[in-house]
Amino acid sequence: MPDKSTSSEVVASGASPSAEVAAEAVASAPARKIYPIVKYGDPILEKPTATVKTFDAELEQLAENMFASMYAAQGVGLAAPQIGLSLRLSVIDVTVGKNPEAKIVIANPEIIHAEGEVREEEGCLSIPGFRGYVMRPQFVTVRAQNVKGETFEIRGENLLARAFCHEIDHLNGVLFLQHLSMLKRDLIKRKIKKLKKQGEW
Ligand code: NI
Repeated sequence: MPDKSTSSEVVASGASPSAEVAAEAVASAPARKIYPIVKYGDPILEKPTATVKTFDAELEQLAENMFASMYAAQGVGLAAPQIGLSLRLSVIDVTVGKNPEAKIVIANPEIIHAEGEVREEEGCLSIPGFRGYVMRPQFVTVRAQNVKGETFEIRGENLLARAFCHEIDHLNGVLFLQHLSMLKRDLIKRKIKKLKKQGEW
């Protein structure tokens, strides 16, 4: 999901909002691959993904590259299909790199509990320029595996709960457009079709 924060606060390393410290962190950290984000219209975004089965150094690197790609795009969440990989893996950081401890990797996640309702505007890095109001639970509990394959449970509230729902939807081939009214959804689809025709999508 795109975030409203300014781009100057977003750093590729995800370590610090300070440019100087960020430059140092980038220098010492391994090089990160920034993936282009797959846009709406690519069928990979609307297909359920495959279970993560191998938890190795490669998966860890993939997750870090997904964080880097997400920060570069100023998002708070990114799912593997959005970089062209049909894999049940998402990364989330509702602080957009301001707090390294807020980085969450969810492999093979499932929502095991949901509570309350919040209607809030939502967007998606794969549908840039469009937003819509989506009803989501206020609290969700997710059971997932981390990059090491260890199962954990995590509870999210408000934006984090929304991010969990949005990213897990992605892994099921569901986009936020599907939660909008048919009228609003068709309007957005028509505009995207027009942008495609103009070569701007
Ligand atoms: Ni999205």
